[in-house]
Amino acid sequence: MTRILVTGGAGYVGSHTTLHLLRAGHEVLSYDNYANSSSEVLRRVAELAGRAPEIVEGDVCDRKTLDAVMARFDPEAVIHFAGLKAVGQSVKKPLSYYWNNVTGTQNLLESMQEHGCRRIVFSSSATVYGEARYLPIDEDHPIAPTNPYGRTKAFVEGIIGDWCHAWPEASAVLLRYFNPVGADASGRIGEDPNGTPENLVPYIARVAANRLEKLGVFGDDYDTRDGTGERDYIHVSDLAEAHLSALTYACRSSGCEAINVGTGRGATVFEMLKAFEATIGREIPYEVLPRRSGDVARSLAAVQRAESLLGWRAHHDIADMCASTWHWQSCNPDGYGA
Ligand code: WQD
Repeated sequence: MTRILVTGGAGYVGSHTTLHLLRAGHEVLSYDNYANSSSEVLRRVAELAGRAPEIVEGDVCDRKTLDAVMARFDPEAVIHFAGLKAVGQSVKKPLSYYWNNVTGTQNLLESMQEHGCRRIVFSSSATVYGEARYLPIDEDHPIAPTNPYGRTKAFVEGIIGDWCHAWPEASAVLLRYFNPVGADASGRIGEDPNGTPENLVPYIARVAANRLEKLGVFGDDYDTRDGTGERDYIHVSDLAEAHLSALTYACRSSGCEAINVGTGRGATVFEMLKAFEATIGREIPYEVLPRRSGDVARSLAAVQRAESLLGWRAHHDIADMCASTWHWQSCNPDGYGA
């Protein structure tokens, strides 16, 4: 059993990972400021796991609280999810993204080193690659983010790499997520975006639930199978398992390793729409709109490094992703509620 500090443990991927950590027998402390989540999530995680994580409401930018938690809980590793993650919002409020994502991580690393915690798994993103120069995208692809959110992820990756170089005992895994979707099979936890969802799958789910009128398809003139954007969607439960594999790897190695987390298979917007219609047994209204600025045509992960270094691969298919999303949406029409 290992003591794991999970920053952002009440978030979408953080809560699913906390559930898998508890089920695997780890001792978990969730450190979250609830800026984009609620403590109700962790109550449900405890219900599902049959035991609770320790819960501290705190901000990674609050060094005093962070140091107190580090000193008392004495974690053997940190899984770092806490951060802002909306691309569009990052363009409007870049300084808030640099403060929370970059300064917050620097604060965390300083506190970790001061308390002798030398292992971290970092929630990075395929957004660091920007426009794909080749496909599938492997970890040696150029890092060229095209928005402030992606730049914060790239900067943090560099900071963690330098931290590992300066502290040879340190060990870090940077997980570059492609497109996380879906929900735990229980239907008790899932993705609950604030306001109108920016991402495709939660938007489709709300149209299917008649909470939104129709899906706007952002462009059907891309150079793809059917003209709509193609992405590498990965089930959030597979993504959670990737963190446990990364943790095991970090505990037996040193240095800093970037690893893609995807399936290596792509799906277009129309293919996701069709899969969701098959899940609910009826058509979902949509309208083709102009392209969304900043979107790329295709994004697809090369997954060999995850398989060879972590011994991990994704198992859930698109049908599972749609079915679990719809189960979550149907059981929780208002998400986690007010
Ligand atoms: C997927 C496809 C859209 C909404 C973003 C972030 C990435 C990660 C995941 C954090 C694209 C199309 C979407 C809609 C549409 N987040 N679409 N209508 O943009 O690939 O990735 O979320 O880590 O960092 O960049 O995901 O779900 O927004 O879009 O047609 O209402 O669906 O054009 O082709 P994206 P997405």
